[in-house]
Amino acid sequence: MSVPSDELVQTLAQHNQQHVLKWWEELNPQQQLQLTSQLEAIDLPRLMRVWKAAQSEQSTTHNDAELCRADRAAAPTTVVRQPVTEQDIAKRQAAGATGEQLLADGKVAVITVAGGQGSRLGFDEPKGMFPIGPASNRTLFQIFAEQIQARQQRHGGTIPWLIMTSQATHEDTVQFFQQQQYFGLNADHVHFFQQGSMPAVDADTGRLLMQDKASLCLSPDGHGGLVAALQSSGLLNRMAAAGIELLFYHQVDNPTVILCDPVLLGLHHQHDSELSTNVVQKTSPTERMGALAEIDGHLEIIEYSELTEDQASRTDDSGQFVFWAGNTAIHVFSRTFFEHLASEGGRLKLHLANKKVPHIDDCGNLIDPTEPNASKFERFIFDALPLARNALIVEGNRALEFNPVKNAEGDDSPATARAALNRIGRNWLEAAGHSVSETATVEISPLVALDLSELSDKLARGAASLDDLVHNVHDSKARQQ
Ligand code: UD1
Repeated sequence: MSVPSDELVQTLAQHNQQHVLKWWEELNPQQQLQLTSQLEAIDLPRLMRVWKAAQSEQSTTHNDAELCRADRAAAPTTVVRQPVTEQDIAKRQAAGATGEQLLADGKVAVITVAGGQGSRLGFDEPKGMFPIGPASNRTLFQIFAEQIQARQQRHGGTIPWLIMTSQATHEDTVQFFQQQQYFGLNADHVHFFQQGSMPAVDADTGRLLMQDKASLCLSPDGHGGLVAALQSSGLLNRMAAAGIELLFYHQVDNPTVILCDPVLLGLHHQHDSELSTNVVQKTSPTERMGALAEIDGHLEIIEYSELTEDQASRTDDSGQFVFWAGNTAIHVFSRTFFEHLASEGGRLKLHLANKKVPHIDDCGNLIDPTEPNASKFERFIFDALPLARNALIVEGNRALEFNPVKNAEGDDSPATARAALNRIGRNWLEAAGHSVSETATVEISPLVALDLSELSDKLARGAASLDDLVHNVHDSKARQQ
């Protein structure tokens, strides 16, 4: 029978974690191998340092560190706001032309972070497989695939698609793409790569929690795990070899993101920025969005969970909410910035979250907690912001670009996202001169049109038909005016 290495046994002992080997002798060789590889992948000294620091912060100053951070924060001073004047519009058009050229030259790839477990939505499969098209039930993945396809067709360059999965979502995601034949994309340009995992520890004692006798309780290491995963998968090198300069980053939960938005790409390029980010005005100070803020001269994101209601509602001298600039999690990264982050070890800071984590106790009995019992460790990609040269903030059009699916019901739910897709399509049709019955549902595939001008043009040329775009219309004919 094999024994765990002396080094591992010593490290576990130093951190009071010997209990994880309690059932070692009962395990078969394969289980032993699994457990040792899980343990060897953990940087236990670092985790314990972070956990202890969080404990002492909590017990001594009761979250004072975060309170101070929020109180020191100011609204970001430089934001490219939504265009108002002719001059603003002309600047955005020029940026758009630059972005289009970058796309035509094949310098842009898309990164979709799709490793989260989507527990708030209550959907058991990877979130990208959620049906969201208001008439067609197109999935989130299909909408993104069609956007990428349409951009390739319009601009000419190839757009590699990098999809970050986790242990929880990887197999189902890959299988789904295979079944769907990559939605018509060239499979050679769709790359799946898995983010890493982090263990959970008991919130009071810091002891590693066991899922069963042979495995730790592991969960995805946060979207900040992207830096390390991009590098270890070899994709960062492959993107460099393929001449990719910019990576357009977005979350899997927002069906109205404008993938590879030429304006955002162009502004990023013109400002020689390493990281550009899209923000929208929060609907209320307490909306569950992170906010861009300046803290001690650095651009950072403060999460909604870090702010009390009073802090979230603070206004500055001009009467503006300090935390108005909501993080849509739409970013453009320069590839070289990722390389720089990766060369520093890819180690963005670790955040701790208190969560309910089922586990076995020392007698091997399953415990299913009803209250948060565990600390989980995660990295956030936006912690790269203060590290970036010339970070740029660009205000997006909320109604058009940010309609995420987060909750099963209420705000940010499938119902609100479907309504948004319907509304956007309806507005375009009306702007193109077609009226649509109130009761009809409109859904415009990105392959039909990526924007209003493409739609108007195709309808005028007869290259798109209203019958394919307007659904359940019995009593009203969409008519050309
Ligand atoms: C997130 C942002 C918030 C922003 C909001 C916009 C964080 C901590 N907060 O909040 O600032 O305003 O989105 O919608 O991100 N993911 C992974 N791997 C992981 C964890 C998450 O790939 O380990 C992916 C998810 O699949 C999802 C995205 O990251 O695409 C967001 O994760 P989620 O935890 O749902 O973030 P929010 O709390 O909604």
